[in-house]
Amino acid sequence: MKNQFFLILMMFIQIPFTAQSQTIEERVKELLSKMTIEEKVGQMTQVTLEVVSKKQGNKNQNHELDEKKLEDAIVKYKVGSILNVYDVAHSIDYWHEVITKIQDIATKKTRLGIPVIYGIDAIHGATYTKGATLFPQALAVASTFNKKISERIGEITSIETRASGIPWNFYPVMDLGRQPLWPRLWETFGEDVYLAQQMGAAYIKGAQGDDISRPDKLATCLKHYVGYSFPFNGFDRTPAYMSERTLREYFLPPFEAGIKAGSKTVMVNSSEVDGIPGHANYHLLTEILRHELKFDGFVVSDWEDIKRLHTRDRIASTPEEAVRIAVMAGVDMSMVPYDFSFYEILVKLVKEGKVPMWRIDEAVSRILKVKFELGLFENPYPKKDYLKLFASPEHTQANLDAARESIILAKNENKILPLKKNIKVFVTGPTSNKLSPLNGGWTITWQGNEESLYPQEKSTILEAIQQKIGSKNVLFEEGVSFDKELNLSSALQKAKQSDVIILCLGEPAYCETPGNINDLTLPEAQLNYAQKLIATGKPLILVMVEGRPRLITKIFDKVKGPLIAFLPGMEGGNAIADILFGDVNPSGKLPISYPKYPNAIVHYDYKPIENSGENKYDPLLPFGFGLSYTQFSYSNLKLNKTEMTEDDEIIVSVDVKNEGSIAGKEAVLMYVTDLYGQVSRPNKQLKGFEKIDLNPGETKTVQFKINKEHLSFIGLENKRIIEPGEFIVTIGNLQQKFYLK
Ligand code: BGC
Repeated sequence: MKNQFFLILMMFIQIPFTAQSQTIEERVKELLSKMTIEEKVGQMTQVTLEVVSKKQGNKNQNHELDEKKLEDAIVKYKVGSILNVYDVAHSIDYWHEVITKIQDIATKKTRLGIPVIYGIDAIHGATYTKGATLFPQALAVASTFNKKISERIGEITSIETRASGIPWNFYPVMDLGRQPLWPRLWETFGEDVYLAQQMGAAYIKGAQGDDISRPDKLATCLKHYVGYSFPFNGFDRTPAYMSERTLREYFLPPFEAGIKAGSKTVMVNSSEVDGIPGHANYHLLTEILRHELKFDGFVVSDWEDIKRLHTRDRIASTPEEAVRIAVMAGVDMSMVPYDFSFYEILVKLVKEGKVPMWRIDEAVSRILKVKFELGLFENPYPKKDYLKLFASPEHTQANLDAARESIILAKNENKILPLKKNIKVFVTGPTSNKLSPLNGGWTITWQGNEESLYPQEKSTILEAIQQKIGSKNVLFEEGVSFDKELNLSSALQKAKQSDVIILCLGEPAYCETPGNINDLTLPEAQLNYAQKLIATGKPLILVMVEGRPRLITKIFDKVKGPLIAFLPGMEGGNAIADILFGDVNPSGKLPISYPKYPNAIVHYDYKPIENSGENKYDPLLPFGFGLSYTQFSYSNLKLNKTEMTEDDEIIVSVDVKNEGSIAGKEAVLMYVTDLYGQVSRPNKQLKGFEKIDLNPGETKTVQFKINKEHLSFIGLENKRIIEPGEFIVTIGNLQQKFYLK
């Protein structure tokens, strides 16, 4: 009887028991062996939510799924993935409804019940979930020089995205921000390789943890592999021209770091490098990404980009050829996204033997593996575990902390800042009383510029200042729009009635191609308005809210206390007011060189020839620059040895003291210079950074390690090498030499 009972029990638990005891590889293999060509190609197909939605009359109208279209997509075309939002962010409950309907069909109405993987751009928080915690954008996160902040943003974004029922985030952007005109500069961690590597890897750690099946974790996506961010002409989705050495020295290493950090997916460069569109580049997508970097997740195309190999780039003479080229180059999933053409074409190509079955099996295995790792086969539905944390006060506080650490004090003439709270201020300018410029693109909508959809309870800069010093002490007039003077005489009158002018200039929200510009200079109307305010003789504090460094050279000398805020997010208004009135001591530093002239785009890690003779590294503000309301001094730069071998490491230490009378945070930056090399070596390169807190009078010793990785570079043969020789370590104004034997 006992045995019989045991047998019956075993029969019941057998199926889950088998599934659980198999490895993911075994489960993938078993499932793959049961799939038809159509089911496999369906897994490689991704469509946008719009395809399975009822037509929306007006933009931002209530969204409705079209269940017939949804069933067609999943049952007939067997699509394995859906993405995006139809225009505007949904409530968390509505997302649950949408995801539940999708997974009901996928798991109950298809032959094998394979769950759909939903992907979204949760760029600075859960972009497309109403009320989500929306952080500073990446360029501002990089300005904090604080890895813990990036990690925490990864954690919280994951919690809020997964709480919305979505397990896959098209983020982080690992493109390097070395072209300031590019309208996606603010999506990057700035111009430096090491900073981008560290910030990106920290984000991935926070977002994925070590188990992406957890209800607070998700799969990340490194994008846009690779070279996308360096368009020659500065416009989005235009060609980059770079040698293999440049690619390997600058643009590839952040992706390498992301792969090491365990990111599960990669999205392809939507443009082209050296004449080869990203989606057709076998060398980059297979030889480098798979063979060299050993990436074992899956590769998704960017929006419509396989089609564009035919329609835009004309490297494929038919849509069929475009699909064949992209799949054989190494793209595993096509973000088609508006139809099922990819599915139909690829099924045909496989049946005709034009795309081999092994390549399909390879791509599908990679996709299924991530679905298994996410635990979607166990439970594909939204999980409620972390709902209570969504937009919680704890998350808002983390957001405010991040924004506070991101803002850069660029000058403080006569210690004008912090301002006293009992003065009268005139707040003005196009970014002073709107939330959208603080957030930028990927906020509630793609462009992020629908001010009316922003949460009323969040504070603009003006509102935050009013709350801080009382409305009666604050005069306001917009004075100028982004490109047109408004009510000048009233503005000048109010300026004259105040003690200090707080002028908030910059850019409206934008994203991708609509953000293209012809000139990096801040629009004339804004510069002219600033000059008229300066002419009143009242001290002027400038606050720059912008996605890229718009040139302010004309007015910079005449403003007393400029703050560079980039895109500080939903708590940006509060953070700026905290800094202006001294409740927070600024600690941001520039993650890019802020140019002085439109044609002088030189990076801080310039080559010797860029700063010799008539040539100069002469930005308005250099990389790594940022002031505090206190002063820090650096002393005792020590190396534990002055000679090292390849297998050794050097320990660097430095004492940092807060010499002032208020507490402050300081980002300590360590640079290394390789004096001689077979390929010209940069002036200096960031190889370590640490953010510390110091009370008045306090000293802390900061330690860094230097190993062979920090000293390596891409040599004559386009391979990473290390050469013996002399190196210099620079921290603050201190330097020490060492030798690699
Ligand atoms: C962007 C990607 C984004 C994708 C999906 C594309 O236009 O280049 O960054 O992830 O759309 O929304």
